Amino acid sequence: MNLRVPGPTPLPPAVRKAMAEPMIGHRGDEFQRLMAEVRSPLRAAFGTAGDVLVLTASGTGGLEAAVVNTLSPGDKVVAVSVGVFGRRFAAIAEAFGAQVTLVEFPPGQPADAGAVEAALQAAPDAKALLLTHNETSTGVVNDVPTLVRAARGVSPDVLVLVDGVSSVGAMPMRADKWGCDVVVAASQKGLMGPPGLALISVSPRGWAAVEQARMPRFYWDLREARRWADRNETPFTPAIGALRGLHAGLRLLMTEGLDAAFARHRRLARMVRSGLARLGFRLVAEEACASPSVTAAWVPDGVSAGPLIRVLAERYKVMLVQGHEPNRTIRVAHMGWVDEADIHGALAAVESALADVKEGRDANPDYRRPVA
Ligand SMILES: Cc1ncc(COP(=O)(O)O)c(C=O)c1O
Repeated sequence: MNLRVPGPTPLPPAVRKAMAEPMIGHRGDEFQRLMAEVRSPLRAAFGTAGDVLVLTASGTGGLEAAVVNTLSPGDKVVAVSVGVFGRRFAAIAEAFGAQVTLVEFPPGQPADAGAVEAALQAAPDAKALLLTHNETSTGVVNDVPTLVRAARGVSPDVLVLVDGVSSVGAMPMRADKWGCDVVVAASQKGLMGPPGLALISVSPRGWAAVEQARMPRFYWDLREARRWADRNETPFTPAIGALRGLHAGLRLLMTEGLDAAFARHRRLARMVRSGLARLGFRLVAEEACASPSVTAAWVPDGVSAGPLIRVLAERYKVMLVQGHEPNRTIRVAHMGWVDEADIHGALAAVESALADVKEGRDANPDYRRPVA
């Protein structure tokens, strides 16, 4: 299967092999070495000289950890949303008792710095700003450094919490330089690992907030995670197989070089965008904010995304998912372990599947290979 969904992403052979190694304990030298060798390239991918902690969780668990470790019930929060994942980050803060002002932008558009400034002017005592770096539901990248600069122009001490789940590893993230206090990533996207680990960086300002925060936390308590991370261990039993996979993925990423990997993602995004446009799809995101890691597009008139995706999977072994508008949008991921051949294959399959659907061949069982 040519897995073109925006996570989990395909696993390189070296990652699969690493995950098949015999189990080890998490309180010994071998584990400590593994963790040290994971944390060092993570610092490079996050653009931080500070801590990057490894939690056994999906990306959403990492977002919850960001919220409960830095905020207190009743805190005012400005949450910027350009899609599904922006709204999810806001919902997490609300679930733990923050007073959230949601600043929303239409699908396909990035967040506007002026609107973020206005929201903070209206809430001068806001404790935190929640941002999504790469909105996976629409394939839009937010200009995080510009948004942070605008926010701090109004509220110099506002904490900035960033969802980098589908950006870290696939595009530049400079947590320290941009002034991001907490950045959350996940193992299964740009970092070429399997699902199972959330990665989280915390700035010195972020750690000061962690000391004052009063939201309830136990499993997510980053103070405990940091205490154990000082000796390259974790407070609880970690997903060691996933950590081994991430270790191998990061090794590949560092061998390629982050800049080369970012250039590859941009190149593949251009291929997907021009290929889909040529086939009659309308792109959701404009060029200026187009994501290097995932592309969303409106299907051509007269075609439904559901049957198209089904034919692609069953007949052409290409897995896509729908986008923010059910049945009218699709998404093609180009993040992690992916190259030109994967994208050529996916686009050729989309072309054939589109013809099948338009010409009514999608329901014809003759086209389906028997299940082995
Ligand atoms: C931007 C973004 N945030 C959060 C998540 C949630 O991650 P998970 O499904 O690993 O919990 C995703 C997953 O697709 C994402 O793309």
